[in-house]
Amino acid sequence: MAIAQPVARPVNPRFSSGPCAKPPVFDLNRLSDAPLGRSHRAAIGKAKLLSAIEQTREILGVPADYKIGIVPASDTGAFEMAMWNLLGVRPVEMLAWESFGAGWVTDAVKQLKLDAEVKTAEYGEIVDLAGVDFDKDVCFTWNGTTSGVRVPNGDAIPADRAGLTLCDATSAAFAMDLPWDKLDVTTFSWQKVLGGEAAHGMLILSPRAVERLESYAPAWPLPKIFRLTKGGKLIDGIFKGETINTPSMLCVEDYLLALDWARSVGGLRGMIARADANTAAVSDFVAAHDWIDFLATDPATRSNTSVCLKFTDARIDDGAAFAKAVAKRLETEGIAFDIGAYRDAPPGLRIWCGSTVETSDIEAMLPWLDWAFNAEIEALSQVA
Ligand SMILES: Cc1ncc(COP(=O)(O)O)c(C=O)c1O
Repeated sequence: MAIAQPVARPVNPRFSSGPCAKPPVFDLNRLSDAPLGRSHRAAIGKAKLLSAIEQTREILGVPADYKIGIVPASDTGAFEMAMWNLLGVRPVEMLAWESFGAGWVTDAVKQLKLDAEVKTAEYGEIVDLAGVDFDKDVCFTWNGTTSGVRVPNGDAIPADRAGLTLCDATSAAFAMDLPWDKLDVTTFSWQKVLGGEAAHGMLILSPRAVERLESYAPAWPLPKIFRLTKGGKLIDGIFKGETINTPSMLCVEDYLLALDWARSVGGLRGMIARADANTAAVSDFVAAHDWIDFLATDPATRSNTSVCLKFTDARIDDGAAFAKAVAKRLETEGIAFDIGAYRDAPPGLRIWCGSTVETSDIEAMLPWLDWAFNAEIEALSQVA
């Protein structure tokens, strides 16, 4: 039977998995210090870019001898830049458990034509990391944004590996502990956990990654937008805020505001705690309802940012149509925007639980999910 609409509503119905909700303190007026209409190479612009790099280092706990650069084209730009610069010198293992990881497989196999072993897991599962040969270069995604599955920790990655690890951490950075000693390349985008703007990518390089850059030149051409070395030496300026091409200083200001907010909620620990609290609220709901479950099969690999759910009710024949209808109902009511599963993922819902989302909003939204589910089941019985 249909149930009555709940009374309480989320204050912010934005549960998209990217771009994600802005920090709760966001207000366009707070970006008024952006040096707009000035050169990004003027002292004021360079200082802002350097500050973005140094605050990223401080909050994420990135070691002092790692390089952090702001690069073009968001996470995709950062990750492909790493692949195109670093890979090809030794065999590669490509690990994929959802669509973005699968995209990097396509890059390695079809574009770069590398000597690559491809290991994949179904949506909801992860590759057996104990079976990975880390003496090869290994590319993987820390958190599968479209499957809601994450790497539990870095234990499987040996400290004395001969290969490099290239980690797409775009929906993990600022929400999960990243073991820097196990990661040679880490990339992310401002638009995810921090609720920043897209189009700018972060590229973090270990000393071993820099060593590779300076000792190996790939056989293929690199466009200017990808070039990290000149005359066999790292272009150090990129890692001090002298970006390859022109960044948006408005986006930089927005990122600085997000970093400021991150610090105000307790830095990385506070950000993780907020994401965990959001995910716990969803977990409690799932435990209390027998018609919904996590896509991630093992709780140890369950994401605390992109939480992916599937409907398990036997009365549902067309899972995709049902999930779409539930998401549409919640959007129409102004309760939850953009929570349908990713287009390549199994049918279901994806609720962003990263720290810019308030737990009170998740808690206010979930009774509406119950309402929407029951309304759609009722609609099914009327058709039958
Ligand atoms: C794991 C992962 N990799 C890469 C991307 C692409 O990010 P961007 O569009 O910021 O380049 C996304 C975006 O959702 C993602 O979730």
